[in-house]
Amino acid sequence: MFDQLIYISTAQHALPRRELPIILDSSQRNNRLAGVTGMLLFDGIRFLQALEGAPGAVTRIFARIRADARHRAAVVLSQRPVAAREFGNWAMAYEDNMAAPGAVSLIDMVEALVTTVENRNTRELFRSFARVDRYVAQV
Ligand SMILES: Cc1cc2nc3c(=O)[nH]c(=O)nc-3n(C[C@H](O)[C@H](O)[C@H](O)COP(=O)(O)O)c2cc1C
Repeated sequence: MFDQLIYISTAQHALPRRELPIILDSSQRNNRLAGVTGMLLFDGIRFLQALEGAPGAVTRIFARIRADARHRAAVVLSQRPVAAREFGNWAMAYEDNMAAPGAVSLIDMVEALVTTVENRNTRELFRSFARVDRYVAQV
């Protein structure tokens, strides 16, 4: 059994864009060690993140994320047990939607990734967020 936690938060005012790869680097390192996977979307204002892993690991990682001054007002949208990881099992990678013309579009990528998400509301939340998104990461 895995724990799946989904939260939304607001980026610190004028968060420098160069912070994003820094956040992703530490996410990759820590999440891999903790066996936590998931997805992080950023629309320039808000973050939407799904974390999946052993219950203790997800709680520990989220406690650290929540305390991070680079965002605020984190609200947990859902926290529930899932039989299998629903957001895929990638090693961390990220895609800047502005980069690489011809690359798989962000929307297509998120669409493909959420097909395994069982809860319809969760699926729709990530889909609609991706439509206005500029940045995506798998954590
Ligand atoms: C929106 C957002 C999402 C984050 N996601 C993760 C994450 O999934 N895993 C993680 O370990 N840190 C994440 N972080 C970073 C943590 O808050 C924290 O800076 C980091 O875990 C510190 O680890 P380090 O000391 O190894 O660099 C996130 C930060 C922000 C602002």
